[in-house]
Amino acid sequence: MRLVGLMFVIVLAYGEDSFITKEEYAKMLYHNPRGIGCQKCHGEDGKGKILGRYREQNRTILIKAPDITKLPFKKFYDALASSKHRLMPHYFLTKKEIKTLYYYLKVKKR
Ligand code: HEC
Repeated sequence: MRLVGLMFVIVLAYGEDSFITKEEYAKMLYHNPRGIGCQKCHGEDGKGKILGRYREQNRTILIKAPDITKLPFKKFYDALASSKHRLMPHYFLTKKEIKTLYYYLKVKKR
């Protein structure tokens, strides 16, 4: 009986850490989507970033990652499911993971 009690205490003590909220999971996925983190290019808030600039014929050309916080879900999904990008790496995300990332960017706006 004592052993069962002890196990119960262990489960209570360690169990708590292993439960992460939807927000925490979404944040983790945004930073570590089995590849380079989205924040590296789109910024912590997803509002986009200037990745670099160069001069061409006396003009400054900016290389930018776009704002991804205002897209309709279909556009967001299609962009991530597609493998045809100019600069963005191709990710192998499930539909559920893409939904989670979309959710994360919406939550951040609040
Ligand atoms: C290496 C930089 C980089 C990383 C990392 C990156 N992106 Fe992108 N993303 C871009 C660029 C640049 C574009 C514009 C299209 C292109 O040039 O590839 C883009 C386009 C997009 C678009 C389409 C935007 C539109 O207006 O149609 C979405 C959605 C998107 N990224 C989401 C993400 C998510 C989510 C992640 C993480 C899983 C991510 N990106 C990681 C650079 C990046």
